Amino acid sequence: MHDLDAIVNEALALFSGIDNADQLEQAKARYLGRAGALTELLKGLGKLPPPERPAMGSRINAAKTQLELALQEQREKIQARMLDAKLAEETLDVTLPGRGLGLGGLHPVTRTMERIEALFRSLGFAVADGPEIETDYYNFTALNQPENHPARSMHDTFYLDDGKHLLRTHTSPIQIRYMEQHRPPIKIIAPGRVYRVDSDATHSPMFHQVEGLWIDEHITFADLKGVLIDFLKRFFEREDLGVRFRPSFFPFTEPSAEIDMSFGAGWLEMGGAGMVHPNVLRNVAIDSERYQGFAFGLGPDRLTMLRYGVNDLRLFFENDLRFLKQFN
Ligand code: DAH
Repeated sequence: MHDLDAIVNEALALFSGIDNADQLEQAKARYLGRAGALTELLKGLGKLPPPERPAMGSRINAAKTQLELALQEQREKIQARMLDAKLAEETLDVTLPGRGLGLGGLHPVTRTMERIEALFRSLGFAVADGPEIETDYYNFTALNQPENHPARSMHDTFYLDDGKHLLRTHTSPIQIRYMEQHRPPIKIIAPGRVYRVDSDATHSPMFHQVEGLWIDEHITFADLKGVLIDFLKRFFEREDLGVRFRPSFFPFTEPSAEIDMSFGAGWLEMGGAGMVHPNVLRNVAIDSERYQGFAFGLGPDRLTMLRYGVNDLRLFFENDLRFLKQFN
C-alpha cells in the first residue's frame, strides 16, 4: 500500500506548511473531502479481493484519524500564532508611570462659602437658597425700593428680554422669599451668585454674596454687632481684628450701616447691614410691632481675597489652573 503512505506523507507535509486557517480547511478537503484522495481510496475498496478489504479498510481509517489529528494540531498552532501576533501588536508597557487621577479641588471662593456656612451654623443659623433669575418685585419692590426709587440707580442691572425678569443684583430677595414661607423666629444666611454691570480689578459682573437675616421679638442692633464681629474674628482667626459700623443707607434697613474691617493702616468695606425696615416686614405680613431684627449682606469674594492675599478679583473667575491649584 505504497499509495496510502505516500498520500499520508504528502498531506502531513502540506498541512504543516500552512499558516492560514482557511487554506488549511481547503487542504483538508483535498484528502478528506467528498472527492478527496482518502475518500477515493475508500470508494475503491470494493474493487479489492474480499479477503484484503478489512485490513485495507482499517488502514485507510487509521490514516484518516492520523490526518484529522494533524489538522487539529495545525489549527491550534495557527490560532496560537494569531494570538501571539495580536498580543505583540497590542503590547502595553506596564512599567510606564501612571497618569494620575486628576482629583480636582475646591475653588477658593467655594472654600470661603463653606467656611462661612460652618461658622454661621455654629451660631444657630439655617442656610436658605433662592433663584438667580428674579422678578423686579423680589429684587427691588418688596425690599422697600419701589419703581423710580433713587436707590435703584445704585444697581446697574442685567434685564432679561421678556422685560419681567432680571439677574438678581443681591441676595436680599431671598429674605423676602424666605419670610413669605416662614414665620418668626427666623435665623438664616443665604449664600449665592449675584450680577451687576460692573467690571474692573475689584468688580466682576458676577460675584458672590451671603445674606443674613435674624427676626425675633427682641433682636437689636447690639445682636447685629455681636454676630458680625464674632463671625469676622473667627473667619480670620484674629481676636484683635478691628471692626467698624459706619452709618449708611439701604432702603430695606433702618438704621443702616456699612461694615468695615481694619486692614493695614486703613479700613476695608466687607458688607452692608441694618435693622430690617418695618415696610419690608409689612410686605411679607409679619407684625412689625411685635417682631424686629437685622439683616446683612457680606462679600465672600472680598473675604477670600483678604484671607489668601489675592489682589485681583478677576483671578477667581478666569479659571487659570496655575492660580487655582495653589489652594488645594
Ligand atoms: N443688598 C445690599 C447690596 O447688595 C447689601 C445689604 C445691605 C444686604 C444691608 C442687607 C442689608 O441685608 O441689611 O448692596
